[in-house]
Amino acid sequence: MRLAVNVDHIATIRQARKASEPEPVLAALLAEQAGAHGIVCHLRGDRRHIQERDLKLLRETIKTKLNLEMAATEEMFNIARKVRPDVVSLVPETPDEVTTQGGLKVLGQEKQLANFIQKLKKAGIRVSIFVDPDEHQIAACRQVGVDLIEINTGRYAEAIKEKEREKHLEEIRQAAAFAHKLGLEVHAGHGLDYHNVQPIVEIREISELSIGFAIVARAAIVGISQAVREMLALLER
Ligand code: PXP
Repeated sequence: MRLAVNVDHIATIRQARKASEPEPVLAALLAEQAGAHGIVCHLRGDRRHIQERDLKLLRETIKTKLNLEMAATEEMFNIARKVRPDVVSLVPETPDEVTTQGGLKVLGQEKQLANFIQKLKKAGIRVSIFVDPDEHQIAACRQVGVDLIEINTGRYAEAIKEKEREKHLEEIRQAAAFAHKLGLEVHAGHGLDYHNVQPIVEIREISELSIGFAIVARAAIVGISQAVREMLALLER
């Protein structure tokens, strides 16, 4: 199981004071040195955390894979074409959300998405869609031409009652098996932390997890290197 570390919230700390530190790029390099297999950042339309400068610096410096989360807009396409991340993950984005609210609704916008994905692929970028564990949406992801998907683990992570949590976990298991059968590479993420990640690690069809908030929160106490190493230890199968 590979670990991709999302460094958005290093930038959140910096932007709280509109200051020049902490640097997301420094956190990313330390995360890589601690063994992370990839770095993720989300360039939002409102630029609340990651800035275009951060994205460029990440592209220039990191040695693993850069995954840019973004909305499917022309503005973001032009940035992605210039910066050329290894992967673009398409996510839904609404201005007032605290964090991404659910997967992208692919059904109903297949044509626009297929065109958008084709343009990114022509620019040499692999494309992923952040999607809920729903077979109809996943089948539509295949149809619009992505090579990989990231299954939204948010509802599993947020569930309080054991029964509810188990239900969402089962949905993720089924969705991962379904996507794998369709020939898609399967990643997962959102809301994963040191306490809830283990059952997700056991799902063999999932090859990579994207984790941000929990690692940055722990990094504030123990440092980014240790926070990444502790998560990597949990990801060993
Ligand atoms: N995957 C996607 C698509 C996301 O939008 C986010 C949050 O930016 C994550 C994974 C990481 O979620 P978290 O910060 O809760 O680990």
